[in-house]
Parts: sequence; structure tokens; C-alpha cells
Amino acid sequence: MSDLIIRNATLPDGRTRVSILCRKGRIADIGTVPAIEGVKEIDAKGYLVSPPFVDAHFHMDATLSLGQPRLNESGTLLEGIALWGELKPRLTHEAVIERALRYCDLAVAQGLLAIRTHVDICDDRLLCVEALLEVRQKIAPYIDLQIVAFPQDGYFRSPNAAKNLKRALVLGVDVVGGIPHFERTMEEGTASVKALCEIAAKRGLLVDMHCDETDDPLSRHVETLAYETHRLGLEGRVVGSHLTSMHSMDNYYVSKLLALMAEAQLHATPNPLINITLQGRHDTYPKRRGMTRVPEMRNYGINVSFGHDCVLDPWYPLGQGDMLEVANMGVHVAQMTSREGLRWCYDAVTVNPAKAMHLEAYGLDKGCHADMVVLQAKDPIEAIRLKPARLWVIRRGKVVAETPEKVTHLHLEERPKTVNAADYAPKC
Ligand code: FE2
Repeated sequence: MSDLIIRNATLPDGRTRVSILCRKGRIADIGTVPAIEGVKEIDAKGYLVSPPFVDAHFHMDATLSLGQPRLNESGTLLEGIALWGELKPRLTHEAVIERALRYCDLAVAQGLLAIRTHVDICDDRLLCVEALLEVRQKIAPYIDLQIVAFPQDGYFRSPNAAKNLKRALVLGVDVVGGIPHFERTMEEGTASVKALCEIAAKRGLLVDMHCDETDDPLSRHVETLAYETHRLGLEGRVVGSHLTSMHSMDNYYVSKLLALMAEAQLHATPNPLINITLQGRHDTYPKRRGMTRVPEMRNYGINVSFGHDCVLDPWYPLGQGDMLEVANMGVHVAQMTSREGLRWCYDAVTVNPAKAMHLEAYGLDKGCHADMVVLQAKDPIEAIRLKPARLWVIRRGKVVAETPEKVTHLHLEERPKTVNAADYAPKC
């Protein structure tokens, strides 16, 4: 494993002119580093050097399948699930791997080096499970991939989901998932949360549940998720994903709920691009945004991450694996436009999801994995604004992707000759 020094870095916490020594895949030193003979150096030119982007919520089995076998005409979550159901019998092991690997190429190019993907376990063949386990192994040198056993058609509602979920865990899937709001009744939803948390507790696994992804304010499975987390001693090990019903809930009830979520140390993963797109589809006007209560959760000390969820699949016709696009949308939908709120939104696609996923040795401290990205921006706020070039992506101290600095040459009279958007950072 070769060594590397990054010079003249600006860090997310504001420190400037920092040098980082990468040795044997770890950060051996950070601050002032003397030149070492034979060690390659990168000049970050004062640009932001950040720990890599982390996506705590994705569906890699469905990604890049847009249009197969047809497009989602209504734009709803339910048509997306039905469409995925049409595609499932036609999937092949090779095609799932090929799409997943192509997505991973896109992710690496943008400094996205850790992803938690859900995998549908309702197909008795477990074809997607086997394919993504193979992908996890293939991409291990570049990306940390966590896989969640996800009963897309309902843990109780889909005939073999309970059996298949256990088979998937035996095969090596990392995390227990669920979808209580899609079960036949509220009671079955509640029972599914209990059963799935018990499986996780018994096997020592983490939990990440699609929870209350609906506009129905009476979808309150997150309350049960917090209760079961607390009852089974799973504090800090459980994620509630989406939680969109909280957008529409009664304020008094939410004031009780937030305290219960904080007590259980639940992590929350809303998905701004997808929530703003799929929710509110049954409304006329005003149309609800559908994203959960991000600033309020944050004020309660709940760890919140922004996930990408979907890229070019039955639920979402856009996306490019860029977590800065996700953060940018998060700023808008959660209205977190203060300087401090903007900086927090950067954490929501880096350190917060790393914490939710229990990633080991993540960050820019001495001893951490030498994983980082150099961005053509001066600070995290500018990174969210510009979604700039990822000049260098470094994994375990090795450059795994490189993009040239974007500078536009102007042909205007009496004006500067070049424009670099990163030079427009405000002084505040
Ligand atoms: Fe999802």
C-alpha cells in the first residue's frame, strides 16, 4: 500500500493549510507533515478535503432500471412498488450485478465510498440478495457496502418473506429491514416491527426499517419502533428511514414522539429528493412536502442523515449518485438556510450517516482510514451550493478517481479571462 501526502487542505471544521499523511491505508498524521523522500504529494490548493460521502439509504437492486418494463405514470410510491413487482420476475443475476457495478463506478467518481442498500427478499429465488452479496465483495476495495434484508411486499403480507428474510441473513446480509406501513393492517404493521426487532436482537444485528413512508398522519409505527428498540436494549442500533408521516402528524403528538425517539437513540434517515417527489401526490393544493421534521429531530439530539434512496428506477427518474445534490435538496425542503443549518446539512451526508451505519475508523483524525475527497470548493456550504468537481477521491491512501478542475475561459472584452465558481465564496 503506497503512501501519500495531501498538502494545503481546508478541512470541514475550517482549519486551513493542513497536511495529511496517508500511510498503510490509514491517516498517520494530520497538521504539519514534513516532506518524505519518495512519497507522492497532492496539492489541494486550499480546496476542501472532506471525509467521503456516505449514503445511509439506497436501493441498489433497482438502480439504473428506469423504464423496465415501463415508466411510473402516476409518480406514486405505490405504482413504483407495483412496477418493481412487474420487473422482479424478469431480473437476472448478471443484469442486477451489471447495474449495481455501474452505479458503484458513478459513486466512486463522486467520492461516495460507503452505501447502505436495501435488498428485496420477497422473491423466493433471492436473486438480488446473491447478486448484491457478490457486488459487496467485488467493490470492497472501493466502497463499504452494507446490505439490509428488506421485505418490500410486507413481512406478513408477502407469503414467504419471513422465511426468506432469515435465509438472506444466513447468506450474509448485514442488517434487518421492514416496511410496517405496507402490511395489511396497523396491527400487522406493529407485529412486524416487534418480530423484526426481536430477530435483530437475537442475532446481534442492526435494524433499518422503512417506517411510515406515507402521508397518513395516523401511520405511527415509529412509536412502536422506538418502544421495541428500548425494550430490547437496541439503543443506537436502529434506524427509522423515511418517517414521512411525521410531516402530517398532529404537533402535540409529535412533541411526545420526539422524546421517545431520542430516548431510544433512534437514527432517522429521510430522503429529501424522493420524499418531496413521492409524497403529497394525493393532495390538491396546498401540497404537502412530505419530508419528516428534520430541524425538530436535530434539536432533540436525534442523529439525522439524508439518503439518496433511488437513482433512475421505478420510483425516481433522475439522480446521479451525488450526495451533494441530496444535501442541496435537504436544505430546501427542511428550510435549513442559516450558515449553521447549511453546515449541518453537509454532516447529514458525511458524519451522520457514518454514525448511523456504525462505520469503523471514519473521519479525518489520526488513525482513521485514509479515505477522503478533495472538492473544488472552499468549504462545506460552497460544496452544497456548487456540487463541484471531485478533484481527487482517495481510498485507503490511494487515488481511485480524479476529475480536472473546472475553469471556464471567457471571451468577453474588459472582463476576466477565466471563471472558477469556487472563487465566489462569500466572506461570512
Ligand atoms: Fe427506500
